[in-house]
Amino acid sequence: MKVRLKGDAICTLFLVVALGSLLYSQLEHLAPAGNKELTHRKPSVTQRIFSDLKAPGRPMPVEATVPRPQIIPMVRRAEVANNRVQTTTSPPLTDSTFNFKRYLLNKDNRNFNLLINQPKKCRKIPGGPFLLIAIKSVVEDFDRREIVRKTWGREGLVNGQQIQRVFLLGTPKNRTVLATWETLIHQESQAYRDILLWDFMDTFFNLTLKEIHFLNWAAEFCSNVKFIFKGDADVFVNVENIVDFLERHDPTEDLFVGDIIYNARPIRVQKSKYYIPETMYGLSIYPAYAGGGGFLLSSRTMRKLSRACKEVELFPIDDVFLGMCLQRINLKPILHEGFKTFGIVKPSAAPHLQTFDPCFYKDLMVVHSLKVAEIWLMWNLLHSPRLSCTQKKQVKKPFQWKKKVQTATR
Ligand SMILES: *[C@@H]1O[C@H](CO)[C@@H](O)[C@H](O)[C@H]1NC(C)=O
Ligand SMILES: *[C@@H]1O[C@H](CO)[C@@H](O)[C@H](O)[C@H]1NC(C)=O
Repeated sequence: MKVRLKGDAICTLFLVVALGSLLYSQLEHLAPAGNKELTHRKPSVTQRIFSDLKAPGRPMPVEATVPRPQIIPMVRRAEVANNRVQTTTSPPLTDSTFNFKRYLLNKDNRNFNLLINQPKKCRKIPGGPFLLIAIKSVVEDFDRREIVRKTWGREGLVNGQQIQRVFLLGTPKNRTVLATWETLIHQESQAYRDILLWDFMDTFFNLTLKEIHFLNWAAEFCSNVKFIFKGDADVFVNVENIVDFLERHDPTEDLFVGDIIYNARPIRVQKSKYYIPETMYGLSIYPAYAGGGGFLLSSRTMRKLSRACKEVELFPIDDVFLGMCLQRINLKPILHEGFKTFGIVKPSAAPHLQTFDPCFYKDLMVVHSLKVAEIWLMWNLLHSPRLSCTQKKQVKKPFQWKKKVQTATR
């Protein structure tokens, strides 16, 4: 768990980070022996992979936590948003022409019908499911849902615990892209019984509606669940690790775990996808919130959040909105290092490096931004009987991915 940052600690951290990245940028010019220095500097994830690749077979001195400068994730997130559209010179995304006035006017319109339900999803499991996996998807992303169903999102037993799955959908904003969408979704629902469809337009700024409606659905139709994982369809989730982690927690107590972002500032740059004017949010810092790529919550927390979110005004960034609900119930979200909801960032100085090492993913819980084929491949590599990552299999030991000594096996 992270220690909260104090003012001067932040300064020190920035220095450490700056020094780290400086050393890192020099790394290509260093002889392999030089890596030692680098690994002494509390390496970032990429640096760890990097040094691992540079010196295969060498035990990695993985040091415990460096509290990272907590403002960075939000900035990085905005950068990611900008990078995606930098190929064109036009302002980023149609979403950035977001009409705040209209949003504010329509803010009270927050109850939409459930068009497709799975009322027995949880009720049919005696004693309730151990884990409900709830995945945000859009109708058009049929292939993503298929791959999630076949890999980490499988229903059934994991370490003896029952896993159930639902996809969370709104109506497509551009219906000409997939004229057959209604037939598709009804067919999918018949075939897999894992579709929840609400009658609001599935847009980025309506993800908050998805959050609210899902929590209400879970409180009504899945109150017997023990834990919930909620995340995106473009993540890789190591469900075994998650189950292992959750087995050491009590579903009747509060629990909210993920890649928590502290002290993020609202972005006041109008061009940004995450731009929020002061009229909408006047404070200078957001409450702590979890990156939307994936997080875990207990049954108790789900019920509390479902009630609390009803009393929080709609806010167009869904993960920040949930942070506001958490604040309302006075629950501190817990940061876990196994959640990489900003992906494993490839060093721009060395784009040829491979970060696709199953032994690395073996120790994580959630990794964001994977392609469909990568999800399939990673799942298969991880479940291959030939995979050997020298370290002992963790069975009942507390989940501590940082403590291990890894050797590359390629
Ligand atoms: C919907 O998608 C089609 C095909 O991609 C495109 O030609 C059309 O302009 C889009 N319509 C809107 C309103 O975005
Ligand atoms: C959210 O969905 C509603 C209902 O479909 C729609 O009227 C509204 O324009 C959407 N809002 C945004 C910001 O996309």
